[in-house]
Amino acid sequence: MALKKLVAGNWKMHGVSVDLAEVRAIADASRQYPQVDVALCVPAILIERAARAVPGFAIGGQDVHSADKGAHTGCVSAHMLLDAGAVLTIVGHSERRDAQRESDSQVQAKAHAALECGLNVILCVGESLEVREAGTAVQTVVEQLDASLPHEPTEEAELAIAYEPIWAIGTGKIPTAAEIGEMHAAIRAQLEQRYGEMGSGVRILYGGSVKASNAKEIFSIADVDGALVGGASLKAEDFLPIVEAAANAG
Ligand code: PGA
Repeated sequence: MALKKLVAGNWKMHGVSVDLAEVRAIADASRQYPQVDVALCVPAILIERAARAVPGFAIGGQDVHSADKGAHTGCVSAHMLLDAGAVLTIVGHSERRDAQRESDSQVQAKAHAALECGLNVILCVGESLEVREAGTAVQTVVEQLDASLPHEPTEEAELAIAYEPIWAIGTGKIPTAAEIGEMHAAIRAQLEQRYGEMGSGVRILYGGSVKASNAKEIFSIADVDGALVGGASLKAEDFLPIVEAAANAG
């Protein structure tokens, strides 16, 4: 049975007070599509205002620290995100794995801390262009996933995976449908191996240059249970057609 689709926006380092109008527009229009879960992961400093602006709509963070509190200047804990009104967070985005040199084991610790606290998690994995061209993308991503996944799935909060080929992020390039299908099937197999039956219920999102014009095709691929959308999530007029495509994909 197909899983309910999740379409999550990743605003990255975009968004100030005036952009709350887009959050409101996206949240209001998304209510027309109860068959899809919709979320926006906004900059940490905007979470509380966004959550207050759209009660009941899923607002998320883009990263979380693995510790509950302590001497970690500039960092935000899962408890703080929840306290601000977030219900989910991204962990292990390639921009953080790269710029902040986050390792698989740090990503695993972040995912574990968030889930334990009751914060839903979107855990990102994906290969570089070099790896894709070398023909080892599936093996690399499965290894990255294996090392990044929390040991146990929790009942308290939901884990989702986002497959985001690094070379497809913000570039307008996307893998072929066959390449996406092959990767999502491999991720599903790994989740089932790790978590048994619970692995079949973990949603696997595709991310990397998703837009209105390619969403329908992407959502028709087996084991694509939604999307993580960067650039096209900043404006309601770009994001809502993607939500609509997910709704129509069933
Ligand atoms: P993009 O970003 O949709 O702008 O390619 C996706 C992401 O980085 O999550």
